[in-house]
This record gives sequence, C-alpha cells and structure tokens, in this order.
Amino acid sequence: MKKFLALALAALMLVALVGCSSSETPSTGGTEGEDTTEVANNQKPLIWFNRQPSNSTTGELDAAALNFNENTYYVGFDANQGAELQGQMVLDYINNNIDGLDRNGDGVIGYVLAIGDIGHNDSIARTRGVRRALGTAVGDEGTEDSTPVGTNTDGTSTYVKDGEITVNGTTYIVRELASQEMKNATGATWDAATAGNAISTWSASFGDQIDLVISNNDGMGMAMFTGWSKDNGVPTFGYDANADAVAAIADGYGGTISQHADVQAYLTLRLVRNILDGVDINTGIATADDAGNTLSDDVYYYDEANRSYYALNVAVTEENYKDFLDSTVPYAPVSNQLDAEAHPTKNVWLNIYNSADNFLSATYQPLLQNYDDILNLNVEYVGGDGQNESAIVNRLGNPSQYDAFCINMVKTDNAASYTAVLNQ
Ligand code: BGC
Repeated sequence: MKKFLALALAALMLVALVGCSSSETPSTGGTEGEDTTEVANNQKPLIWFNRQPSNSTTGELDAAALNFNENTYYVGFDANQGAELQGQMVLDYINNNIDGLDRNGDGVIGYVLAIGDIGHNDSIARTRGVRRALGTAVGDEGTEDSTPVGTNTDGTSTYVKDGEITVNGTTYIVRELASQEMKNATGATWDAATAGNAISTWSASFGDQIDLVISNNDGMGMAMFTGWSKDNGVPTFGYDANADAVAAIADGYGGTISQHADVQAYLTLRLVRNILDGVDINTGIATADDAGNTLSDDVYYYDEANRSYYALNVAVTEENYKDFLDSTVPYAPVSNQLDAEAHPTKNVWLNIYNSADNFLSATYQPLLQNYDDILNLNVEYVGGDGQNESAIVNRLGNPSQYDAFCINMVKTDNAASYTAVLNQ
C-alpha cells in the first residue's frame, strides 16, 4: 500500500512537472505526431547498445558518454558471465567426447581461435574465457592476455601457455595452435569471410592437429564450419545463437551462447519508450507495464554506476538447441502490444554499425523490428559498413526530427562523434 501511495505521488509530481516543463525536459507523451515540448537534441534519450563506450586499448568505460545526459543508458549483456559459459561449454565437450577427439593421436588437443575485434570488450572477454577454461591463459584471472598468437603450433607463444587436461585417466596437452583478429583489408572486424580464409590457411598447413575450432562469434564460427570443420568432423563453437548456427548443431556444430538478444533488443527500445512516456525507467522491465510486460531478474540486471543494462547469457548445446531455433521471436514475457493512445508513436533514429554483421543483421535488427511495433516506435534504421564512422554520423543530418537515438558505434572510442552532433 505504501509503495502504491509513493508511486501515485511520484506520478502526480510527474504530471505537475510535465505541465510546467521547460525546454530541458524531454517530451512526455502528448498527442500522436506532435511533441508537447521542444526538447534540445542533447537532452533526448540516447541509448548506446552492443558496443559499450570504452577505451579500445584499456577497456576503461567512457563515463562521459555513458552520462551524456540523464536519459543516457547502455544496453548489452554480461560479457564475463557469457565468456565463462563459453569456456565451460568447450571444456564440458572435451570431457564428454574425448574418444577420437585427438584426431592425430599426438596427445595434444589443438584448437584454433577466431578473434572478433581486439579492441572490443565482448571479444576480449570471450578470448579470455576460453583460454581460462582450457588452461591456456597467461596472467591473472580477469586480466589475462588476450593477444592473438598468430601461429603457435610448437607451443612457444608467450601470449598463451599449454594447458593440461586429464580425462578418464589420460592426460592431454591443450594448445592454442593459432588465433588471429578477423579484420578484413578495409578494416571491418568480426569478419566472417576473413575467418573462412583463415581456416583454409590453417587447415592446409596443420589441419590434422586441429581438434577443435572456437570463435568469438557465430558469424565467423559458421564460416569456418561450412568452409572446413563440418566436412572434417571437427567440433566448432561460436557465440550469439544466430538461427543458422543453432540449426547447425544438428550437423555437428559444437554449441553457441545466447546473449539473450531478445531481451537486449527489448531493453534498447523500452528505455526509449519509458523516457518519452515520462514514466519510471524500469516500467515493463523490473515492474509490469499496463500491458503486462515485465522481465524477471534471471534474464538481466542493471548496473547503476555505469548506467548499463546487461542481459544474461545461456549456453545452447545439443541438449537444448531446439528451443533456440528461431532467434528473432520476441521474448514472450515482454511481447504484449502497448496501447497506441496511451503510448503514442515516437520517432527514433537507430544505427547498426555494420549491416554485414551476422549477429546484428540476422538476429538483433529483426528483433528490434518486432519490438518497435509492440512499443509503438517509428524507428529509422541506418546501416553502416563497419569501417567508416563518419558515413554513419553524416546520416544523422537533422537530429531534431527524432525523439530519441540508439547508437551502435563502429569503434567503442568514438562516442564523441555522435554526441557532438547532438550538442550542435
Ligand atoms: C556479437 C558479435 C558482433 C559484435 C558486433 C557482439 O556482441 O557477439 O557477433 O559481431 O557484437 O559489435
């Protein structure tokens, strides 16, 4: 009851506030198509997603970008929890499938690793998680070296070390035979075609030593699987639970991790909706909205200090993959349509840093497109080429046309390229 009274009071205060809002206050509802207030662009909702504003060398979060205004948030997923799951998934696979895994019988379980972007926190976490689980990491827990080794068939690299694993009384060496950042000639990272080329090169020179293929994501993982490992019966592990990768588990793809894109895409647009509606930021998230949408705390959490919402990850393997075959369906607990009168249409500018990115284009964007209908948001989707930040920024020519912005940077250091436009 107390809670109800407090909420009612908060609602009343809000109505009062809206009534006498200045140009500093975000537009909060009003009739469809028109704003009740003129809001400065730099006061509008700004949601960073998928690439957290941070220093690409040190990983340090960009506090200025995350606190650009009081309506700024980041939406991503818990990179460390997911990395841990991915490492554990590979380790479990080795323990449960040791017979015949060491293909050339040399006593070394050799793996190759496709690295997405050496300056991206998610990629770094995944490289560390796999190395940690397999005993090949060098350095203290959480700050292990994530440098690509290039080629390390002789085990002399100083970025990794040989691990050891004992299964059914036999001890094997675990070795990272090769790893590289999959960046193409024009600079696009997480590049699937580059991973496809890498596996051709690696398999041609030391193919019989490769017992496992591991990738920071499914786009690169699937390029390696279809290019080589499927035909050679070599288990391949990725990340993202893209629909094609999940389906490939039936054909021998070892497994993947769902980063709960269905929860992230919802949060990305839901935060916008809440700010524009002038309601509590956790409406339809921690607390049910008027349509019954709500998220339970086993699928996400909020890190207040960094203004970041993180979805939690789930391992997808032979045991449960059938539940994950369609990666673009809205998450059922948050799939209820909002009423168009209570939540009138608002205009949102949203960019995808690289329209060729498998995860963003095949999983995340289709989810956003489902949620924009549910949340009555009119979203303009802008696709980049993964290389050129300014080409994307230039397409934000007239920010005043939009009520909110959702941004996916090419490079995590580049938040200021966008905020500068909003400050103009
Ligand atoms: C995904 C990758 C994707 C990257 C783009 C990551 O979270 O796992 O597949 O390429 O985001 O920034």
